Amino acid sequence: MEMVKLGNSDLEVSRLCLGTWNMGGTEGWGPDDDERSIELIRRAQDGGCNFFDSAHGYGRGHAEEVLGRALAEGDRRERAVVATKLVHCDPERVEPSLDAALQRLQSDYYDIYIVHWPRPSLSLDEFLGKMCQMKEKGKAREIGVSNFNLEQAQVAARYGAVTLQPPYNVLWRIIEPEVLPFCRRSGIAVTPYSPLAQGLLTGRFSRTTEQTTGIRTSNLLFKEPVFSKARQAAAVVDGVADRLGATSSQVALAWLLKTDPIIIPIVGISKWSHWEDNVGALQVELSDEDYETISAAGLEVWNMFSADDTMWGWKPD
Ligand SMILES: NC(=O)c1ccc[n+]([C@@H]2O[C@H](COP(=O)([O-])OP(=O)(O)OC[C@H]3O[C@@H](n4cnc5c(N)ncnc54)[C@H](OP(=O)(O)O)[C@@H]3O)[C@@H](O)[C@H]2O)c1
Repeated sequence: MEMVKLGNSDLEVSRLCLGTWNMGGTEGWGPDDDERSIELIRRAQDGGCNFFDSAHGYGRGHAEEVLGRALAEGDRRERAVVATKLVHCDPERVEPSLDAALQRLQSDYYDIYIVHWPRPSLSLDEFLGKMCQMKEKGKAREIGVSNFNLEQAQVAARYGAVTLQPPYNVLWRIIEPEVLPFCRRSGIAVTPYSPLAQGLLTGRFSRTTEQTTGIRTSNLLFKEPVFSKARQAAAVVDGVADRLGATSSQVALAWLLKTDPIIIPIVGISKWSHWEDNVGALQVELSDEDYETISAAGLEVWNMFSADDTMWGWKPD
């Protein structure tokens, strides 16, 4: 798989990252099969993926534990770049939280320690300062941030953050005006989550009418009147895919990859065929015309939101 340098860091990562939220087995994803998750992680690594994303909150640490079990075999841990996240909280909780997560990973370092969500009511400086201490102690190789706006990203850049993990896909375009150009200028890699809009851009909700269940019921893209518009935009992606002989997921990911070379999408899967399909996106070349057609269809959906909205209709205070 294509490898890229992660922002200003020395880390080399695969152009697709494997997300592990669903491997936590809670938060609306439903129970997961750990043995299947371990097999998916190992097969992805054997196929050239070295980048894995987790969080302390995914199944209250269960996803980190599953990653730890998958990577415990041979030199898998050394060959992997593993990111995990902690929601902005009392800075005193940073080190004990990371120590517990290291035990779950069966490792003495995470490659990237990420502020999961900023809390406007708490000091960002103190928290990022504590995250940097984890780097100095060798418990994290780099630090990153997630769900940060421009102003918050500017603070993070002063602390040497090398990645920013935003929601970003054809339909959810919040980072385009400010955050993406800032990251490009500052050497911060952008690692979008929900790059397939939690399945909306895979054809599952446009070519077929899969029921909206579980985690998707709290996603604003799946609520009317947005959902109908989103399905129309997804049908535009489907149309381009059909013409190119590609799948909808591949085209949705190819759109992200064409947007900027600093973009490294984090995809969530529970089926090996889905991962294989997504890896195929790296071979799909979109023409400028197709790119613009998809962009315009997606913007019609994004224009139904404001810059204060989050995909879940919720954010910490
Ligand atoms: N920082 C944050 O606040 C934050 C928030 C959300 C997510 N994340 C990270 O980002 C990762 C990905 O985000 P996400 O899971 O929300 O969204 P996503 O990757 O856009 O969507 C995942 C969904 O898409 C389906 N899918 C994937 N590839 C497919 C394909 N080729 N064909 C059909 N369906 C396909 C998966 O189905 P199957 O399960 O059936 O394979 C799953 O239901 C998470 O695992 C997590 O690591 C971070």
